[in-house]
Amino acid sequence: MAEVDTPTESPAASQSNNVLYLGVDLGTSNSSVATSTDITRTVPSVVGWPKDLVAYKFLQKPIVFGEECVRNRMSLDLFYPLENGVFKFRPEGESEEREVVAVQELVRHVIELAEIQSGTVRAVVGAPALASVNDKQAIIDVMQDLIDSVMVVSEPFLVAYGLGLYNNALIVDIGAGTLDLCRMHGTIPDDEDQRTLYKAGNYVDEQFHDLLQDKIQDSPISRHLANSIKERYSFVSPITEGISVEFQVAGKPVLYNIAEELKTACESLLPDMFSAIRELITTFEPEFQDELRNNIVLAGGGSQIKGLPEIIESHLSEFGAVRVTIVDDPVYAGALGALKLAQDMPESEWASV
Ligand SMILES: Nc1ncnc2c1ncn2[C@@H]1O[C@H](COP(=O)(O)OP(=O)(O)OP(=O)(O)O)[C@@H](O)[C@H]1O
Ligand SMILES: [Mg+2]
Repeated sequence: MAEVDTPTESPAASQSNNVLYLGVDLGTSNSSVATSTDITRTVPSVVGWPKDLVAYKFLQKPIVFGEECVRNRMSLDLFYPLENGVFKFRPEGESEEREVVAVQELVRHVIELAEIQSGTVRAVVGAPALASVNDKQAIIDVMQDLIDSVMVVSEPFLVAYGLGLYNNALIVDIGAGTLDLCRMHGTIPDDEDQRTLYKAGNYVDEQFHDLLQDKIQDSPISRHLANSIKERYSFVSPITEGISVEFQVAGKPVLYNIAEELKTACESLLPDMFSAIRELITTFEPEFQDELRNNIVLAGGGSQIKGLPEIIESHLSEFGAVRVTIVDDPVYAGALGALKLAQDMPESEWASV
């Protein structure tokens, strides 16, 4: 998050001109946009092309996005343009043509959702806390063809900024590709205040898919099905009752208790997340550690895993009181934070990007 320098004029100065501001969250699983004209939109980060003539006749479109891809996945060649929170394609080559186009089309679609009329458009875009310079530049390159100015900023910082958590707060943003942490201490956070871990929602899906397939060997389980079951029942608390889910085995419905497998998969996030949280707390200014521990905020789709706040609180209890909360709006927390930063950013900062 080193891109933003100290503002030299009042934030209000940036509001005086006729500019549309966007907050954009290009996520591995979902991409969202929030605008200064009060539009909020989100779309699964997937692009699909009809597989053949029949698919084209059926869908009546040369390209489809988001939910429509998921619904019609049998008819489409699907591309997920983001991996680990950044674009899959590499600017230095090696990428398939379709991967490059998929990124461009997804970004163009997200910008279209913002319903831009005319005039200057400025956007703040989220990236994983410790994304590389190349990955941030790739986002700028693709966005710059579509709008006037772009700044790329750490996602968990944007969540904190949007919630007004400027001081002594620890954001834990559990996405699909990355789990990002950022501690706030009253100034713009440095690299040492942030962590990016690569075990996040997609990793849980992989673990759960493997465990399910081992259990139900006579029926092929898709990643999509494993993901839907996870999103419906995810939890990390002690098992008190079973979770019965129906699977088609040899054409017939059979009930399986999948509680143990789901718990194991969801808990696979915990060891690395606990270490990163502990590290960020214990290396914080000792005088303020109490306050930091009492202001841990979970964001991202993974924040919906049941029992997560309680298990983090109990894991850290040896240090003293701990309080973990969940953002009210996990879908838009990043995009709304990005919009707020875009609107607060002095015009002189935009002029230099
Ligand atoms: N109820 C739920 N329980 C567990 N996981 C969930 C739930 N709802 C959504 N998720 C998971 O959250 C992840 C998506 O979250 P989010 O939209 O914040 O990610 P993203 O921003 O697209 O990814 P990233 O930030 O890594 O690029 C997916 O892995 C999804 O399966
Ligand atoms: Mg995200």
